[in-house]
Amino acid sequence: MYQDKKVVFSGVQPSGMLTIGNYLGAIQNFRTFSDEYRCYYCVVDEHAITVRQDPAVLRRRTYETLALYIACGLDPTKNVLFVQSHVSAHAELGWILDCYAMFGELSRMTQFKDKSAKNADNINAGLFTYPVLMAADILLYQTELVPVGVDQKQHLELARDIAMRFNGVYSDTFVVPEGYIAKTTAKIMSLAEPTKKMSKSDENENAVVRILDPRDVILRKFKRAVTDSGSEVRRGEGKEGIENLMSVYSAFTGASMEEIEREFDGRGYGDFKAAVGEACADALAPIQAEFARLSADKAYLEQVMKDGAAAAAHDAQRTLSKVRRKIGFTELRR
Ligand code: TRP
Repeated sequence: MYQDKKVVFSGVQPSGMLTIGNYLGAIQNFRTFSDEYRCYYCVVDEHAITVRQDPAVLRRRTYETLALYIACGLDPTKNVLFVQSHVSAHAELGWILDCYAMFGELSRMTQFKDKSAKNADNINAGLFTYPVLMAADILLYQTELVPVGVDQKQHLELARDIAMRFNGVYSDTFVVPEGYIAKTTAKIMSLAEPTKKMSKSDENENAVVRILDPRDVILRKFKRAVTDSGSEVRRGEGKEGIENLMSVYSAFTGASMEEIEREFDGRGYGDFKAAVGEACADALAPIQAEFARLSADKAYLEQVMKDGAAAAAHDAQRTLSKVRRKIGFTELRR
């Protein structure tokens, strides 16, 4: 614990422009912790290279992801905003924890199974040990709380298992983290296949709404969203598409599902889809304006990166030294 505050850590990959799923399921919640917790929000570029990346694109997206963090309301003077590869302790602890994670448990990770099916020509070892690096990210800062989307629950369980295993072998070293998964907005589904999560790397652009999509694009995507053959704005069997749009509307307007059903009673899907698009575009407009302003100021973003990396490296070192001592690595005296 630092400064007597409990710690929050979360990470977002710079692998594709963020969607409203990333925003509602995770980033939007991040700033609610800033006052009460010491918060580390990381751009996890080392995780991103488990899938082949174009170097120029990765570099650009790393800046963009950082700018989006700030544009979404994360004040760099109140949160530690940094890039994973700038703090070498992540890779170091990642290796160490690889030796405390079991082949069998990693084989059971559903994201590994999904991603290796999708990237059959590049099932690299990093894709397999990805959750161990994620555990290192979290455990380095003695994190208590990890706000994530529901798809990361299994990885978080693994981080807890690794922490408890290590603590069991060597005595208490790591805080065992808890996940924080927002209930209603944890999972925004694809607009094309509403039984599938909205994924920022989806090849079908119509399936995802990105935080930086222009207003007309947002309106169009919602208009084309796959629903069912009915016409009533209600939840129910076979109405996953509509229900997903209802959660989006609810998340952006604060209206409850019941209120939405009342508001759109007898008005049909067309009206409702237009309203969802408007609500989403209205909510994203100020974020987009701030993003544009920040993107034009690369020097500022670089200063944020630098300050964030220095603060994170300092704090991470405390845990890493402790770990090195416990496992029996020798220290060089200065
Ligand atoms: N695996 C997370 C994702 O794809 C990103 C991530 C990496 C992360 N390290 C983390 C999230 C640590 C929370 C904490 O969404």
